[in-house]
Amino acid sequence: MERKDIDSLLEKIEKLTAESIRDVEEIRVKFLGKKGEVTRLFEEFRTIEPELKKEFGKYLNELKTKAAEKIETLRENFAEFVEGSSLEDFTKPGDNFELGTRHPISLVREQILDIFGSFGYSVALGPEIEDDWHVFSALNFPPEHPARDMQDTFFINPDSSDPILLRTHTSSVQVRTMERQKPPIRVVCPGRVFRNEAISARAHCIFHQVEGLYIDKGVSFADLKQAILLFVQQMFGAQTEIRMRPSYFPFTEPSTEVDISCNICGGKGCNICKGTGWLEIMGAGMVDPNVLEASGIDSREYTGFAFGMGIERIAMLKWLVNDLRHYFENDVRFLKEFQSVI
Ligand code: DAH
Repeated sequence: MERKDIDSLLEKIEKLTAESIRDVEEIRVKFLGKKGEVTRLFEEFRTIEPELKKEFGKYLNELKTKAAEKIETLRENFAEFVEGSSLEDFTKPGDNFELGTRHPISLVREQILDIFGSFGYSVALGPEIEDDWHVFSALNFPPEHPARDMQDTFFINPDSSDPILLRTHTSSVQVRTMERQKPPIRVVCPGRVFRNEAISARAHCIFHQVEGLYIDKGVSFADLKQAILLFVQQMFGAQTEIRMRPSYFPFTEPSTEVDISCNICGGKGCNICKGTGWLEIMGAGMVDPNVLEASGIDSREYTGFAFGMGIERIAMLKWLVNDLRHYFENDVRFLKEFQSVI
């Protein structure tokens, strides 16, 4: 930077004229804005030799003050026209702009994570492209289990002896969490999952799940029940009840499928709950000791529970959406229904 650069810039500024208040604003941005010419000189100033700093600092400050004064003078020329003038009417209401909406799946996912967050669970994530170990083997799936079949799972390298696949559930993130973290563990794992299914109102090849995992000394089935009850009451309302039916999953023992009392008919029976008064919302159970051991956790010292739910299903029950495909088509008329939920 040289003295003449500063002088010539000052000269240029002094000569400026403006036709309107808009011109003044443009001038301000051009010279004093973030990328303005004066501002650029200040940036250059950082790199000049220390013994020149004092002198140039003074010139630069003068330049800036004079530029600001000049702009102020230009602005004053228009001040008297502002009120009631055709140039600018600052009392006019602002332009309307349309707000976007959050996708219902994002809304429900966030609500689920918030509720478990308030219980002290943190969020864990894992990859969508997984290996056989994290999706099946470590979770105690027997070798001949149908989920290991191409009919049900998308394999990336079907002929390999070391299969890579799209995860079919977020239970894989349980395994990854246990592998890298010592108990106590309290996590919820949201994510996309993939299954080789024909698309219909009730099934899709891509959907979302939230997995939960709690491992510590002395964790019992009663803790599982309590966590789920508190969760559903916050999600569906304080009057909601739960019912647990015995079930089977390779990775939990005992295993259960959890129903909530139908939030539409209050349990009396309607066409949503098919007259039963109950709606299924998740699978759960005590983590099988084989799963703990496979992930490096001593099953004599620790116990834990796990649960897994489909986000689409929770959202369908919450808002009475009757076709899963709505979530994926992004029809604005559907998405706008959730505008007020934000
Ligand atoms: N992974 C199961 C599924 O995709 C859901 C599930 C059931 C997860 C029971 C769990 C569990 O953690 O304990 O259908």
